Amino acid sequence: MATSTRSEPAAGAEPENPLVEGLERLPVPNTTLVIFGGTGDLSRRKLLPALYNLAHEGALPERFNLVAVSRRDLPDDDFRGMAREAIESFSRRTPDATVLEALLERFIYVPTAFDEEAGYKALAERLQELDDEAGTPLNRAFYLSTAPEFFPVIIQALGAQRLHRHPDADVRVIIEKPFGTDLASARSLNDVVLDRFREHQVFRIDHYLGKETVQNMLAFRFANYMFEPLWNRNYIDHVQITASEDLGIGTRAGYYDHSGALRDLVQNHMLQLLTLLCMEPPTAFDADSVRDEKVKVLHAIEPPTPEQVRTNTVRAQYGPGVVSGEEVPGYLQESDVPASSHTETFAALNLEVHNWRWAGVPFHLRTGKRLARKVTEIAVMLKPVPHLAFAQDGSVGVQPNQLILTMQPNEGVSLSLGAKIPGSRMRIRPVNMEFLYGTAFVSQSPEAYERLIMDAMRGDATLFTRNDEVDAQWEIIDPILQGWQESSEAPATYAAGSTGPEEADALLHEGRRWRGL
Ligand code: BG6
Repeated sequence: MATSTRSEPAAGAEPENPLVEGLERLPVPNTTLVIFGGTGDLSRRKLLPALYNLAHEGALPERFNLVAVSRRDLPDDDFRGMAREAIESFSRRTPDATVLEALLERFIYVPTAFDEEAGYKALAERLQELDDEAGTPLNRAFYLSTAPEFFPVIIQALGAQRLHRHPDADVRVIIEKPFGTDLASARSLNDVVLDRFREHQVFRIDHYLGKETVQNMLAFRFANYMFEPLWNRNYIDHVQITASEDLGIGTRAGYYDHSGALRDLVQNHMLQLLTLLCMEPPTAFDADSVRDEKVKVLHAIEPPTPEQVRTNTVRAQYGPGVVSGEEVPGYLQESDVPASSHTETFAALNLEVHNWRWAGVPFHLRTGKRLARKVTEIAVMLKPVPHLAFAQDGSVGVQPNQLILTMQPNEGVSLSLGAKIPGSRMRIRPVNMEFLYGTAFVSQSPEAYERLIMDAMRGDATLFTRNDEVDAQWEIIDPILQGWQESSEAPATYAAGSTGPEEADALLHEGRRWRGL
């Protein structure tokens, strides 16, 4: 296998992304990446295209190999053909043939069931051959991109073959979501993982942390002094975090019906957004300093009591409706969804962060499938001015300032301000000051998985979830799951393509309203 030349940027490549340039300057050790579930959906749609884009930018290490492990029996060449097709279909760039072919040469395939000892022996042999070929032990990163029931099986099998450590190289394990389905299962998975691996070897994925816009929250908060005096209960009235999607569950009923919106998006992505918004400035931008601060926020959120689950949460399912002009079925009519399913496709909840900075500020979270449009945003709603000095007609358009951090689409930050409408009267209306990624920066943002794969190979866990963080997330979510499970009430309903169930409006008090979708 030709692996000894560093991947060069493609001729005519667009200007390098500053993030990747920055990463490239930091050493990315020579690595063999092993993807369990290498022929699966995530691998084809995200991981293989991410590897191509890293290769395109010359960001992969000098010696890099990919070993895909899956059950299907395929020769290396067939796997390469499948990978080529996946990259051509899903890469954010049109692949350059030279870069793509050079990358594919580094791909090999090991067929095995995930619980088959002989398969791990074969894997160990292939890894040794790659080290021999390189003339040096390469770092190893095992990426678990399989159905979650295989996570413990694979971890234990790696341990049994002594593949979890190496005397002369770093060994890492990257674990996809979901990390457990409740507090108890997350704890037992952590026990299995930490029985074999040390925490610094473990990279639990939450792909939201790989998004540029999510990382920008840290830049926005900690590189701009002007927001700090406002960033607290004295100036902030409430916060709304929205992750709405127009898509339904597609072909994922098997997974989704056991998960639901709360586990699928709130436990991980939305709580990550909340912690980044609320955390104190870390002393350094390193894995433990950042994650220590995030965990403190999670610990400041009291898990809801059964009564609070009744009054502060809403779950709902989409019924039939119209999305983008097309009639779509309701959740219960989707294929493979049991007709009696109570699984929520929409979840909304109120949380409070009980600390000096945030006490008393309501945080309203909502997420759902088949809503009016896709938008992920955090709206920081400031308090109204204490006194309006304008004549009656001028006051009409005065609204409290809103700071909107948009993760997707139209990535950017927008601040609404009251401004005088030109004319002889003092009339005021809100206007927006906007920063848009698309116009401020010429280069295209890397996909979340590019950044995350790179960081995992470098051993930087800042953008990954630590064991105590996962635990703290589930501690908040578990009582809601339990309350919903024990409730005899069916979930509320909303029409596909709408802004969600009416019941969610009742979560906001004192005249507050959800932002329009
Ligand atoms: C995944 C969920 O983690 O995130 C999906 O399993 C969801 O159900 C997806 O659609 C949303 O991610 P993004 O990056 O499209 O906002």
